[in-house]
Amino acid sequence: MATPLTIEDLKKLAQRRVPKMFFDYADSGAWTESTYRANESDFSQIKLRQRVLVDMSNRSLETTMIGQKVSMPVALAPTGMTGMQHADGEMLAARAAEEFGVPFTLSTMSICSIEDVASVTTRPFWFQLYVMRDRDFVLDLIRRAKAAKCSALVLTADLQILGQRHKDLRNGLSAPPKFTPKHLWQMAMRPFWCLDMLQTKRRYFGNIVGHAKNVANVASVSTFAHEQFDPQLSWSDVAWIKEQWGGPLIIKGILDPEDARAAVDTGADAIIVSNHGGRQLDGAPSSISMLPKIIDAVGDRIEVHLDGGIRSGQDVLKALALGAKGTYIGRPFLYGLGAMGKEGVTLALGIIRKEMDITMALCGKRDINDVNSSIIDGRQ
Ligand SMILES: Cc1cc2nc3c(=O)[nH]c(=O)nc-3n(C[C@H](O)[C@H](O)[C@H](O)COP(=O)(O)O)c2cc1C
Repeated sequence: MATPLTIEDLKKLAQRRVPKMFFDYADSGAWTESTYRANESDFSQIKLRQRVLVDMSNRSLETTMIGQKVSMPVALAPTGMTGMQHADGEMLAARAAEEFGVPFTLSTMSICSIEDVASVTTRPFWFQLYVMRDRDFVLDLIRRAKAAKCSALVLTADLQILGQRHKDLRNGLSAPPKFTPKHLWQMAMRPFWCLDMLQTKRRYFGNIVGHAKNVANVASVSTFAHEQFDPQLSWSDVAWIKEQWGGPLIIKGILDPEDARAAVDTGADAIIVSNHGGRQLDGAPSSISMLPKIIDAVGDRIEVHLDGGIRSGQDVLKALALGAKGTYIGRPFLYGLGAMGKEGVTLALGIIRKEMDITMALCGKRDINDVNSSIIDGRQ
């Protein structure tokens, strides 16, 4: 394939490079996948307002997210098992993000550990926390994130039980993969992936294995989540986590105005309007369709971010125009990583940056901080 020009190009390439069970893990939503699809398709309903004969020189995409400088308002979302899209995936993606000047968020369920990522980066990354029943283990994760100088904690609120993704069950997803004839065949079909994977020792859940008590075998996210995640987690626990962490806190997985107001009351620094990329409650509305209602509910009392369905720089601009201060991409960077390793993540970010820059100019704006609802057709 010629140089990929779109996130869709990277997706096609990733499908050819990554064993089926791991490609499917990224490209899946819960049950019928209706929310996964709506996240993407609802962006295309929003039309932009073309403006002409305005000065388009000296454009800037630089801004801040939770007060931290970013070269564009697009962070890498926390994604589990990223080190199975490509060997050492989290370390490669974190370095790509650092060089690009955008935040990288490491998942609790990553393959490379907090310490692995800290060892290859020079600027702080963000850590995403899943809250387990074993609070000592949670405290230890927070302690390790602090020791690694992480500059924000992203508390995921929408996954205390796991939504069912049919593809993962059918594929018998695990990390490391099982050695059944089916799995061996899937890997044999992807020899470059195998060669890279043979050269790394990082094939297990690096934040968990050897750290969590009484957890000998963590092959599958679903079994681990079922046994360890705390289904009783509530708003009152957020205060405890905030106190233990003591730094910037972002609550991820808010999709309802009432929950957004409750998040403001916790004193968190930001919320992420998100439905976990359509991987949890199938049938829930898309993130972008809920954004205006959430902005109405919280005003400027908390910084509002959004993820879910962003596949282009235009989507980022639409989210900003509807009130988000920052955005995250999950699958777009995973496809880049699976397709071409670190270079692919850089390419994914570059594609989005270019689309954002050109679109901003054609909408008559020069500074990302000036983008508002006036760039949306019918909202000016
Ligand atoms: C393969 C995959 C794994 C994910 N793992 C996590 C995770 O470990 N923690 C978390 O908070 N969100 C996780 N998410 C959700 C993402 O952080 C994000 O909300 C979602 O990917 C955004 O949608 P997008 O992929 O359409 O950009 C995951 C998403 C994907 C696709």
